[in-house]
Amino acid sequence: MNEGRKEPLAIFGAGWVGLVTGACFAELGHEVVIRDVVPEKIERLRAGKLSFFEPELAELVERNGERLTFTLDAAEAAEAAELLFVCVDTPPTYSGDADLSRVWTVIDELPQLERRPILVMKSTVPVGTGEKVRAALEARGRSDVGYVSNPEFLAEGGAVNDFLHPDRVVVGSFAEADGDRVAALYEKLEAPIVRADVASAEMIKLAANAFLATRISFINEIANVCEVTGADVEKVAEGVGLDHRLGPHFLKAGVGYGGSCFPKDASALKQLASNSGYHFQLLSAVIEVNELQKRRVINKLQKHLGRLRGKRIALLGLAFKANTDDMREAPSIVLASRLLAEGAEVRAYDPVAKPGDLVSGMTTSKSVAEAVRDADAAVIVTEWDEFRSLASPEIRDAMRRPLIIDGRNLLDPEAARSVGFTYEGIGRASSLLSELPQTDEPARRETSSAESAEHSSRE
Ligand code: UGA
Repeated sequence: MNEGRKEPLAIFGAGWVGLVTGACFAELGHEVVIRDVVPEKIERLRAGKLSFFEPELAELVERNGERLTFTLDAAEAAEAAELLFVCVDTPPTYSGDADLSRVWTVIDELPQLERRPILVMKSTVPVGTGEKVRAALEARGRSDVGYVSNPEFLAEGGAVNDFLHPDRVVVGSFAEADGDRVAALYEKLEAPIVRADVASAEMIKLAANAFLATRISFINEIANVCEVTGADVEKVAEGVGLDHRLGPHFLKAGVGYGGSCFPKDASALKQLASNSGYHFQLLSAVIEVNELQKRRVINKLQKHLGRLRGKRIALLGLAFKANTDDMREAPSIVLASRLLAEGAEVRAYDPVAKPGDLVSGMTTSKSVAEAVRDADAAVIVTEWDEFRSLASPEIRDAMRRPLIIDGRNLLDPEAARSVGFTYEGIGRASSLLSELPQTDEPARRETSSAESAEHSSRE
């Protein structure tokens, strides 16, 4: 390769990971060929259209149009570059394992090449996949093909920024030189590069997501305890997060985590462990807490409305988090389905997400005002900015009952109450307090001077 010329790259899979990766590498100056098996997707991309919403991505694709090529032809992509990024879906199977069939398809489609190709795995895969791929390549007489694990740490809604300003880049390789090639691509980003063996790189990705999910379930349980003890989880998270050993991130209590990553990766890691005979107890609890958390909103509604049959509930937000149109594993789906099963009427509104017929029986509205009209309650499910102004006199007057269940602690409880709303958030002091069990103070008794000396020395 000429000095100064950027290494050309090929990307297999024009989904969210593939497209963000491809567009960002193009932004860094690489020629990138992106290959997908779906003709409509490739046609749309050639016409400059994305089939999902990700801030900044459309601009990036447009700006780097000259360096981005889209193709249906696996051979064309493989021949264009030596580093072949695998960015295909690895959805969970019924057993909770990751489905690697699309990864195998990429390998099966690799043509014989003059140059030595290196597969770079971006997709999240179980630990041990690299070894399996290496064995599969050898079995096919393709031991010439290199393999590097380079997991992605992109969060939806901020993926372009995550790619261009990463906390770290992880590169796991069998051969040092292959890892060097991949690590060199990221040098310009000035992020720490963690070099590792392939299995450790694969585990870093799963462990990071499982740890983040654990933090969320942990703070959600703290929130639930706050509700029965009169503490406020927002304050608690602030105080806990300022400990530099803990940090402030992923301590936002809410309706539970969703999306295409945490639920899938937590279950894949749990499954991976149990396949090898290890019961990952903590992770099992994290997953269970999350399932229960989604359903707690129903109890809150019942507390105020009694039976939900015939009640009209406005669901505000469908996406699994703000700044994305993604509804995969979104808490809104479970919530809407539970409400419908209770006989409630569900009217949903999301500024971007389009549910289609994902939840049959739910109607969608074009605005907050339309969703809340004559509603018995409004439930904030996604933290979209436009819901911050929900507690207004106009909304109060439009509702049949001015009840807000704030599943994201987006509003100021006092401000909402002062407008006349009944307000309940997650883990915030609420009327549940009145149901606290009375605990009598222990009877006073005379303390000996030795006991009081010990007490004061600890204070
Ligand atoms: C997550 C990770 O953050 C990325 O680092 C990772 O690369 C990605 O998965 C992946 O494996 O591809 P993502 O699922 O896009 O990214 O979204 P997050 O912003 O992490 O949020 C996940 C869920 O947790 C959302 O439902 C969000 O509402 C919830 N969450 C997050 C909370 O309930 N509380 C928090 O404090 C933070």
